[in-house]
Amino acid sequence: MIRRIDGEKPLFVLDTENTTYAFSVMPSGHLEHLYYGGRMTLTTSADGEIFRQKREFEPGNAIVYSEKFPTEIPEDTCYEVSSLGHGDIREPFVEVIFPDGSRTCDFLFDSYEITNDKPPFDTLPGSHADCGCEHLTITLKDGELVLLLHYFVYSECDVITRSAKLINNGEKAVRLERLMSMQLDVIANRVSVTTFHGAWAREMDKYTIDIAAGKFVNESRAGCSSSRANPLFMVHSSGTDESNGDCYGFNLIYSGNHYEAVEVGAYDKVRVVSGINPQGFSYLLEKGEAFEAPEAVMTFSRCGFNGQSENMHRFVREHIVTGTWKNKRRPVLLNSWEACYFNISEQNLVPLAKAGKELGIELFVTDDGWFGKRNDDRHSLGDWTPSEKKLPKGLESLVKKITALGVRFGIWVEPEMVNVESELYKSHPDWVMQIPDRLHSEGRHQRILDLANPEVADHIIGAMTEVFSSGDITYVKWDMNRIFSDVYSPYLPAERQGETAHRYILGLYRIMKTLTEKFPNILFEGCASGGNRFDLGILCYFPQIWASDNTDAVSRLYIQEGYSYGYPQSVVAAHVAASPNHQTLRETPLSSRFAVAAFGVLGYECDVRDLTSEQKKETATQIEQYKKWADVFQFGQFYRVRSGTVHEWWCVSGDKKRAVCLLFKEIVKANTQSERVTARGLDPSYVYKFYNIPARVNVKQFGSLINTMTPVHIKQDSVIHNAIAKAVKMNGEEENVTVRGDVLMNAGIALKQEFSGTGFNDNVRVFSDFSARLYFVEAD
Ligand code: DGJ
Repeated sequence: MIRRIDGEKPLFVLDTENTTYAFSVMPSGHLEHLYYGGRMTLTTSADGEIFRQKREFEPGNAIVYSEKFPTEIPEDTCYEVSSLGHGDIREPFVEVIFPDGSRTCDFLFDSYEITNDKPPFDTLPGSHADCGCEHLTITLKDGELVLLLHYFVYSECDVITRSAKLINNGEKAVRLERLMSMQLDVIANRVSVTTFHGAWAREMDKYTIDIAAGKFVNESRAGCSSSRANPLFMVHSSGTDESNGDCYGFNLIYSGNHYEAVEVGAYDKVRVVSGINPQGFSYLLEKGEAFEAPEAVMTFSRCGFNGQSENMHRFVREHIVTGTWKNKRRPVLLNSWEACYFNISEQNLVPLAKAGKELGIELFVTDDGWFGKRNDDRHSLGDWTPSEKKLPKGLESLVKKITALGVRFGIWVEPEMVNVESELYKSHPDWVMQIPDRLHSEGRHQRILDLANPEVADHIIGAMTEVFSSGDITYVKWDMNRIFSDVYSPYLPAERQGETAHRYILGLYRIMKTLTEKFPNILFEGCASGGNRFDLGILCYFPQIWASDNTDAVSRLYIQEGYSYGYPQSVVAAHVAASPNHQTLRETPLSSRFAVAAFGVLGYECDVRDLTSEQKKETATQIEQYKKWADVFQFGQFYRVRSGTVHEWWCVSGDKKRAVCLLFKEIVKANTQSERVTARGLDPSYVYKFYNIPARVNVKQFGSLINTMTPVHIKQDSVIHNAIAKAVKMNGEEENVTVRGDVLMNAGIALKQEFSGTGFNDNVRVFSDFSARLYFVEAD
């Protein structure tokens, strides 16, 4: 609920179910931020006085805003928006260069409006609310410049989103050097900040830093949101853990260069900002023109990181993902990349899809290599016609053959890119982002098309429309495999080159919007060398994203845990791949690879024809089980309980009647026999059945210990050893208890004893390095 409370210093109060956000209009006309945290009841403007900062005299060596308002010290005030010039020397919200070259700006309150709507942005994607949502618009003015601040309240998610728009009503152009999306000033002298960094195949590593002075910046200059620094971040007290403690969560609905700063100022105040990265950004605002900043997402929870992520997950599921696939179960797919790489042909793909179908695969994806002269990554990006050599009967014929197997068809594209070795580059060298007559640095031997140029964007829409119309294509993987360099748009004039990176993203959004509207039933999956563009901007159009090119189960534990702080499992694509893994060469059991990938949108990415008949049986059973539980795996509420030597994840259905637990052992510590799992998010009063699907134990797991059981000596890995392993399977431990929710959440369940070198029977859990178990929980 949004309220304006009148008084000498009018208050604006934004309440969600469990949080309150409040600010007021100062006598000067600035907006003073008062509070963001746990829900409280504010009824009169005098309530704000109780916790508003008190001041009679200014501190030494500080700037006073004006003689008329001698107690307003900009450097020591919590603001809703701050600018450069009048003495607030902290991180600004907005920076403008006026026609006379001056940079001081001063936006003062003009008016406000409270409505119930969620209008789309003119240029950018945003959250959506089918039945509208409470919306506060504050209009601030500095001369002829108008700054609109929008606040949208998603009460049931405990989320408030913010965005800003600058309009130039003056006669002359001004230059916008930065416009952040949100600013939050908090009274504290020390905070912890958690951010997510990485690289290709190493996305979303979690880092926490304590800041007691100075500034910490999380940013991307890669042109995309990047695997180097995801726009998701959390600000919290240093003692906050997964279940306890105050935690703010922030994200940005934007896919380009972003910037998040957390600054501890001189007077025990912490400023948090997030928005488009001002580095390399400079936007000319002519008379009458407007600039929109992307929407920022904010949440607060007193229940630690899990409380924060629970809010974010619900918000993403309900108010970011949209269209046919919102809350719809995703199909289990088989992707050709790690099975075939560039070796694409009907002869290769159709039998692979057939083998997949026999295991329960629902969708077959033809990845890179199907078009032009694409035998390696140096050729043909931009030429979106099927390779005559590999697919002489065209794409349609392949689509028909795969579809005839009873498997849906999906295709890979990388529309934003071009190889110099391509027909497209030859005919349109001016369509590429590159500086004329200068060396251009490449990534993966490719260049980026200039999406700031509307003609180029239109071309991509046309070319993709043709590909997506080649038969019954039900899924598209949209890849993007390099970061920006030599940023320059041949289309834009010199004075607008500082707009190139942002206009690229706007061009991309127009393309995505047009194509997703044209093909509403296609399931689009975003991808950028894995998770190099995993953000809420992409998710406004594409309901899921390939989380990482790293398919190793152990790496994925950390990658998926990282995403889980802000993104629900239904948007995180995860595949079972070969062992040894192609990125790490690590060997992990099939059951562990499945267990980790199941906590996401499950797919397979290996040559399933090469599986042994035993592995095929195991895979078919796993897929069947996943389908039965997909609503919990994909849309259940996710909780992190432990990470490190042992990972424990829980996922609970919306009605709290079903849940799944993953227990994953990274490295065995000798003689640790006991283990316990403790649920989160269940109904304390329900009675649940807790069980696993017992696995069969392969005697080879015991190596030469077999000799303690056999009358004759068996040489390890000998023919005999292998024959015994094939014929004799031992029963794995079985868990099967009936338990109340409160017991399961408080005491937890003590699992069967873990193997520790002193004996084995079918009540012992063999749980060596990289082992995993899934436990299922169902209310009676
Ligand atoms: C990078 C992607 O992340 C991979 O999954 C695969 O599609 C390759 N590109 C294909 O070139």
